[in-house]
Parts: sequence; C-alpha cells; structure tokens
Amino acid sequence: MRETVESRGKKKGKEMVPITRGGSKMVECDIKDRKLAPKGKLRIEWAERDMPVLSQVKDKFAKSQILKGKKMSACLHVTAETANLVRTLQAGGADIVICASNPLSTQDDVAASLVEDYGIPVFAIKGEDNATYYKHLIAAVEHSPVVTMDDGCDLVSAISSKYPNIAKGIIGSMEETTTGVIRLKAMEKDGALKFPVIAVNDAQTKNLFDNRYGTGQSTLDGIIRATDILVAGKNIVVAGYGWCGKGFAMRCKGMGANVIVTEVNPVKAIEAAMDGYRVMTMEEAAPIGDLFCTLTGDMHVIRPEHFAEMKDGAIVCNSGHFDIEIDIKGLRKIAKQENKNVRNFVDQFVLAGGRSIYLLAEGRLVNLGAAEGHPASVMDMSFSTQALATEYVIKNIGKLGHKVYNVPEEIENWVATAKLKSMGISIDKLTPAQEKYLSSWQEGT
Ligand SMILES: NC(=O)c1ccc[n+]([C@@H]2O[C@H](COP(=O)([O-])OP(=O)(O)OC[C@H]3O[C@@H](n4cnc5c(N)ncnc54)[C@H](O)[C@@H]3O)[C@@H](O)[C@H]2O)c1
Repeated sequence: MRETVESRGKKKGKEMVPITRGGSKMVECDIKDRKLAPKGKLRIEWAERDMPVLSQVKDKFAKSQILKGKKMSACLHVTAETANLVRTLQAGGADIVICASNPLSTQDDVAASLVEDYGIPVFAIKGEDNATYYKHLIAAVEHSPVVTMDDGCDLVSAISSKYPNIAKGIIGSMEETTTGVIRLKAMEKDGALKFPVIAVNDAQTKNLFDNRYGTGQSTLDGIIRATDILVAGKNIVVAGYGWCGKGFAMRCKGMGANVIVTEVNPVKAIEAAMDGYRVMTMEEAAPIGDLFCTLTGDMHVIRPEHFAEMKDGAIVCNSGHFDIEIDIKGLRKIAKQENKNVRNFVDQFVLAGGRSIYLLAEGRLVNLGAAEGHPASVMDMSFSTQALATEYVIKNIGKLGHKVYNVPEEIENWVATAKLKSMGISIDKLTPAQEKYLSSWQEGT
C-alpha cells in the first residue's frame, strides 16, 4: 500500500520512515523494506565512483540551484546509477519523486536508501504486479510535476491522456529509451503531445554507449547469472541489429558463441552479415538456436510457430523495453506444463513430446531483471545528458513547442569531453588551416 510516512512508530502496521533533512520532512513511499537502506547506500556510493561526469554536474547544480523548488517526477529503472541521477537533480534544488519504469528492474536496497538516506519519495518494489506498477506511476503523477523524466513514455502517456491540468503545467520532459522516443514521436504526430520532450535516447552520448556497450554487457550478464550457461560454442540468435542488438552480438561473439542475427531492416541485415554474423529468418533460426534474445522494441518477434521448431532446452529471453517481444501467451497456450522458477528468473515450459523451453525474467528486460542493468560508467554519460537536458529545458521555458527535440550538440560535446578527460584520454585539435579546409568547398584535387 502507498503510505504517508510521518514519524517512526506512529501508525501501527505501517512502514514508518523518519526523514530529517534540515528539519523534519514527510516522505511518501512504497518500497520493499527500509532496513535494506545501508546496503543500498553502499551500492549507490560504489556506482558513484564510476560516474565522474555526473558528479561534476551535481556540483554545478548544487551551486546554480537551477531546479530550486521545481517539482519533478521520474519514472526510471530504480538502480544505483539512477539514484545518483536523482541525487544530482535533488542537489540542484528539485523536489523529486521516483517510480519504477518496469516491474522487475527495481533494486530494493537502493529504493530503501533513497528514502532513508536522501529523503526522496520512491514508489517501486522489485517483482510488483501490473496493478501495483500503475499505482506507483499514479503516485508519481499525483506529485503534480512541472518537469518529468521517463524511460518508456509511461509517465508522459498517463499524464497526457488522463491529467490535462497537470499536463498544462509541464515545462518539459526527458525520455531515456528508444521505445519511449518511438511512442513520443507517434504522440507528436497525433497532436497528443502537450509539452516539449527531449529525446535523450537519441543523443550519441547515450545510445552509442549505453544501448551498445551497456546493453551488450549487461544482457549477457543477466543471462549468465540466470542460467550459468557456457556461452562458448552456443548458437545464439540475436533478434534486432540496432544499437542494443549490435552490442549484445559483439559480446556474445567475444565469448565464443556462434551468433545468428534476425532483422527486418535490409540495411541493418547487410551490416550484420558484413560484421561476420549469419543472417536468416527467425523461422530458419528457430531449430538451430540454443539461446534466443530479442532486442527490437517490436512485438511478437518470437511466436508459437517458432517455439514449435526449437530444440529441447532452448532458452529465450528479451532485452527490449517491453515484455511483448516474446509471445508468452502463445507459448503458454502450446505448453503442456509450466514450472515457475526452476532457478531464479527461469521458468520452464514443457511442450508436446516432452521438449522444454526456458523463459528468463518473465520475458522482461533480462539485464535489469536478472542482473544489475548497465554498468555505472556508461550511465555516467546517459544520466549527465539527462541532467543537462533538464537544465536546458528550464533555461528555455516558453521557447520550446510541443515537440520531440534532440539533445543540443553543446550538451553532447560537453559530456563527451568531460568523459574523455575522466578517462585520461587526450585528442587532437583542429589546426586553423584544417578548420578552414573542412569548412570550404573550393579546394579539390
Ligand atoms: N535492456 C536495456 O537496458 C535497454 C537499453 C536501451 C534500450 N533498450 C530497448 O531495446 C530495444 C531496442 O533498442 P535499440 O536502441 O537497439 O533500437 P534500434 O531501433 O536501434 O534497433 C532495433 C532493431 O530491431 C529491428 N527489428 C524491428 N522489428 C524486428 C523484428 N520483428 N525482427 C527482427 N528485427 C526487428 C529494427 O529493424 C532495428 O534494427 C528498445 O525497446 C529499447 O527501448 C533496452
């Protein structure tokens, strides 16, 4: 149950969380267990070590107080990295609440620490059912934010469709993932977008690194933690060769898997073929694959006709945003038996003839469900871009339309330069002659 938390022990049968930050403060929350806070705090601090750029932004925000008094709601994966983003926004003066952007991605100890140690209201419990997920989303809406942050567009879509008065007051929103940007562009096209949105996902400082190296590594991490399989020698079928698919395929290849790619985009399919992978249809791949992973943002990429052809013991999982890439209802229909949790995050489906298919993390993002999501070092860039996009929205109140905007180039350059510096890497500068040459058309052969 959502609860108003006032002071420890006041109300019987309710989780009481005392928050005192420069005076007593009422904090609303719905989290698993506040006693997990000490572990969560250590985890947040561990992630912070690898987020030097975000720390710089935090110092800058603490001085400028750019978000002072601004109500913010964030619907994000509640992880240690996100905690550092939220702390950055809080340091800038934001009055922020956070809810989960996926039922399985919350780190309960981090949620507890955000409430206990930082006084930030959190509505998120790992494994929450759909009803609780939406109840948490509504709690974030009821904060009446003027700035929102989304990972998948659930918050913006709820506010735009059901809360016109809150929508009217919104200065702007930031979107973290590909699926969210696709939904927002569809809203813009339909005239349903009621405020400006910055497509943080589309920034190079986000998708080139977070989607590729972050998803690549953490997806494999989730699969290994859930199954403990040997990757070497396995036939791994990667559905979708976008940023996430590329990263995952690259890491699987590096660990000795035989990678097969399925695509619907002819250019991406050629890219995959020339990167050295076998490219074929899902129908052709179904009987060959040992492990299948969808990273498309599309629905029903693996369907009953594919399950019917799979080997006994085939493992299927998803790392795309929503749990619709694998047709789980279809799998359930053709299964004779379903055994939940044969291992943590592994469900067994026994088909006719006794063959088994194993589904990981209920078909939800396997990297966040069965592992810890992206490493902090890539989230350093994504979340610095998020924070600076927020600053941009505030600085441009009244100047932006009801559209989806790209992250300004100056923000991307600032983040990339700061990241390089933190990595101890120097790069060359254009000489004046080079600058002139690169901006002219007269000089040829
Ligand atoms: N797991 C994570 O932590 C994480 C991180 C970032 C993004 N995402 C999500 O992952 C998904 C992919 O993101 P992306 O940035 O790689 O997107 P992208 O647009 O770069 O790539 C998606 C690819 O899937 C292909 N595709 C679409 N339908 C297909 C189908 N039926 N069969 C095979 N291929 C198909 C597209 O042609 C495209 O090449 C999105 O849902 C995104 O929100 C997840």
